[in-house]
Amino acid sequence: MRAPPRTTPGPQHPEATAPRGPSDPRWALILGASSGTGAAIAEAVARTPGLNVFGVHRGRYAEAASRMEASVREAGRDVLLRQADASTPESAEAGADALLTHAGPRSVKLFVHAIAGAAVGRFLSEGPDRLHPRRVQRTFDCMAHSFVYWTQAMVQRDLLAPDARLLGLQNPLDETHLGNTGLISASKAALEMYVRHLAMELGPRGHRVNLLKFGTVMTPALSHVYSPEALAQLEQRHAAMTPAGRMCTVEEVARFVTVLTGDDAGWFNGATIDFTGGMTLRLMDLVLNP
Ligand SMILES: NC(=O)c1ccc[n+]([C@@H]2O[C@H](COP(=O)([O-])OP(=O)(O)OC[C@H]3O[C@@H](n4cnc5c(N)ncnc54)[C@H](OP(=O)(O)O)[C@@H]3O)[C@@H](O)[C@H]2O)c1
Repeated sequence: MRAPPRTTPGPQHPEATAPRGPSDPRWALILGASSGTGAAIAEAVARTPGLNVFGVHRGRYAEAASRMEASVREAGRDVLLRQADASTPESAEAGADALLTHAGPRSVKLFVHAIAGAAVGRFLSEGPDRLHPRRVQRTFDCMAHSFVYWTQAMVQRDLLAPDARLLGLQNPLDETHLGNTGLISASKAALEMYVRHLAMELGPRGHRVNLLKFGTVMTPALSHVYSPEALAQLEQRHAAMTPAGRMCTVEEVARFVTVLTGDDAGWFNGATIDFTGGMTLRLMDLVLNP
């Protein structure tokens, strides 16, 4: 096996000489790697293209985190899990320091922002679901600002590999109204703008920054919010709504992330990539012609 490259060619021929063996030094930094979408992406990118995984989570899904760790190791990759709140600038700085120590400069091929921590409720409610300033701040820190904090921390430490891919995750709530989710939608709108501006700033360096939009997938985030009966109903309604007649899965999303990590996806930049399978296309039809 050739010596692992700390530097690979520039953006025109980004991966031409990058080795793919177990000594490949490229890493995926995944915020929210212990469960749901983040865990599925960690497992998928460990297999293809074969990235080591540096994951951050707060420790609420210990079993799922262990399963993800085992799966990454089974793929022959290194995995390091950091238990911390990833939403603050301080945690981004400390996490990036740890990543630099462990992985070295120019090692992060893929950054995925997959943390979920949003308050649901109403802005003007007088009840317990009122969206107080603290909830607004926490939600924006977690769902949007932290994308910037981690990107800044990585760039400051020269952690991004040549032709690195940075990915935020979006849902279809920007297309249609769903009560209680105004704060989530607002924070995702901010994330979308961060993605576009960072794409402009990082584009000349050869990096790509995109937002991957996908429909509802079954993750612990959903089972926190809905009862088992409500989940079954949710699944049925998605089947009726989605042209494919079923919900998308986290594995499908994760496999698509491996595609986005590849050379052929290198022209996506500043894009909101629609992987919703047309989930909201029929809404009007369903309401007006039930
Ligand atoms: N599920 C969907 O239907 C869907 C659809 C479209 C887009 N998305 C987006 O995909 C992303 C992930 O959603 P998901 O449904 O996969 O969520 P999930 O299953 O709840 O997983 C969230 C992950 O983030 C970690 N996490 C949450 N807050 C954190 C924090 N402050 N610091 C560190 N780790 C934190 C969680 O572990 P700990 O709690 O232990 O920290 C867990 O590993 C979100 O941005 C969501 O908006 C989801």
